[in-house]
Amino acid sequence: MKMNKLVMATNNANKLREVREILSPLGIKVLSQQEAGANCDPDENGADFSDNAMIKAKAVYEATGLPVIADDSGLCVDALGGRPGVHSARYAPKGQECAKLLGELEGVADEKRTARFRCCIALLTDTERRTFEGKCEGRIGYEERGTNGFGYDPVFMVGDRTMAELSADEKNAISHRGAALRELYTYLKESSGE
Ligand code: IMP
Repeated sequence: MKMNKLVMATNNANKLREVREILSPLGIKVLSQQEAGANCDPDENGADFSDNAMIKAKAVYEATGLPVIADDSGLCVDALGGRPGVHSARYAPKGQECAKLLGELEGVADEKRTARFRCCIALLTDTERRTFEGKCEGRIGYEERGTNGFGYDPVFMVGDRTMAELSADEKNAISHRGAALRELYTYLKESSGE
């Protein structure tokens, strides 16, 4: 399947930048849903990341008829039984998620602060319906550090740095979204016959 244009079911500038960087070698132009004229905000009421990714993809596909990718992602913290998980975006008001998480983990020992970001990307076209997954293992730190990235990046430690202290390239190389996108990249490259 050769495609030269994809709509990403998001208007999040950070996600768009990450996706464009990874898919650009394939010569695929990635439009935001706004650029594609779709104003969708479906209820993300799926049971897991892949359900939610497909719900978002379907809404934009129905509005545009163009090939769509949609991602759903979140942070799963072991000491919280996997929370906030699929509820990561609604866990706290924007900008307060890190502080709330640090509060919930107060007194939790180092070895119990393990967590992972998960990402599922759905691809939906007139002939395809697939999902691609990625994860990134880390730990929740004790304070917010760094100014790059978004969401939980300032408290998510990979080695001795937070995700918000990594450059965009460094984050793409290890992130859950980077991993899922590389799966998608490989699939699109192979199926385009290149
Ligand atoms: P989504 O847009 O429904 O996938 O929401 C996922 C939520 O998980 C975001 O709003 C962030 O709070 C969090 N999240 C997902 N990916 C990342 C990341 O790469 N860094 C930091 N937080 C993330």
